[in-house]
Amino acid sequence: MADYKKLFPLLIKNPDLHYLDSGATTLKPQVVLDKIMEYYTEYSANIHRGLYPMSERATMEYENVRKKVATFINTKHESEVVFTSGTTASLNLVSRGWGEDNILEGDEVVISEMEHHSNLVPWQELCKRKGAILRYWLVEDFQLVMADMETYIGPKTKLIALTQVSNVLGTVNPIEEIVERARKINPKICIVIDGAQAVGHFKVDIQELNVDFYAFSAHKMYGPTGVGVLYAKASRQLQMSPENFGGGMIKEVHKEGASWAIGPEKFEAGTPPIAQVIGLGAAVDFLSGIGMETVASHEKELIDYAIGKLEKYSNIRVLGKKNNRIGVFSVVFNDEDMGTAHDWSSILGSKFNVCVRAGHHCAMPLHNLMGLPSGTLRASLGIYSTKEDIDAFVEGLIEVRKIFEETDNG
Ligand SMILES: Cc1ncc(COP(=O)(O)O)c(C=O)c1O
Repeated sequence: MADYKKLFPLLIKNPDLHYLDSGATTLKPQVVLDKIMEYYTEYSANIHRGLYPMSERATMEYENVRKKVATFINTKHESEVVFTSGTTASLNLVSRGWGEDNILEGDEVVISEMEHHSNLVPWQELCKRKGAILRYWLVEDFQLVMADMETYIGPKTKLIALTQVSNVLGTVNPIEEIVERARKINPKICIVIDGAQAVGHFKVDIQELNVDFYAFSAHKMYGPTGVGVLYAKASRQLQMSPENFGGGMIKEVHKEGASWAIGPEKFEAGTPPIAQVIGLGAAVDFLSGIGMETVASHEKELIDYAIGKLEKYSNIRVLGKKNNRIGVFSVVFNDEDMGTAHDWSSILGSKFNVCVRAGHHCAMPLHNLMGLPSGTLRASLGIYSTKEDIDAFVEGLIEVRKIFEETDNG
């Protein structure tokens, strides 16, 4: 198994760290940090404004990233790539910018029970504002109940918003099949996909998925925080209103009113996160350099190893399927009085140098559905993860259990 740790300065500085929280945010490779530094030290000008060479360079680098992202996720046009501050901002932009004008009273919006709050609350709020009906697609056995699809989606369904990958279970939803079946029922249905846990893990092809909107964050794919992408299909962009108003997004402004630019600029008012976008471009190059097939197979080998290892412990329950998944997995102990996920995570961190996340992972309805309202312990893999990291996690977890068993007996 290739050693990618040496590409990440944080792991070079902390060789004993077992970072298993890439689902929350990934670490950043040197090449991404270098590219951000290059912007600040060589051409740190604003974009789309100056006509002097340094500003032209900054504009060219920024717009090049739009091209890179378009190629990376295979959009039809590069103008379909809108830069936002992250997945949450992208999904809110769709719910406000598209939903406000296009969802009417009595319309139906379908989401699933496994959504992250970022792909749940914006739709709840939109439906409240518009008098629309929010329907939940059921999850059973850690996956969407596909047989029920036609009972949720009908002629009144205007929009479906689903995650491609669950950030709790690691389940990969069959988006292509869902899109095909949904469009047979209602060809005009608007399909929004939350790709936050997908883009850094396997090849995403927007034209193959045939969706209307697709959201993701740079910081979960080895890029910087503060920037993300909304893929917005050209025909849908024309149906959207801007959410933010100001410089850079207008065509003309008069005392009486203003008109908007056509294309992604319409949604990128003000000075955008230039350094972060440039850093995102370096993250795309980093992933393309490794190759998404290698990224996916590295993760598959590790998740198979982790599940195989955890299966040997009958008192640890892994929440998720064996197949059609990525390397995000949540666990609980099978019996009560063994503390909470928060306890386990803080002991793993302080005693075993293992970084994992505890709680409901911004998916409260899913945790309630699983009967685990106080949360789970989640480990999530990245390209730098190794079998040693998984060993440290599993062995640490067994030790944590012993601590609670002793407390319980004593
Ligand atoms: C599935 C999913 N959707 C949305 C988000 C929100 O991403 P961000 O906080 O980068 O906006 C996350 C973050 O954990 C996620 O896992």
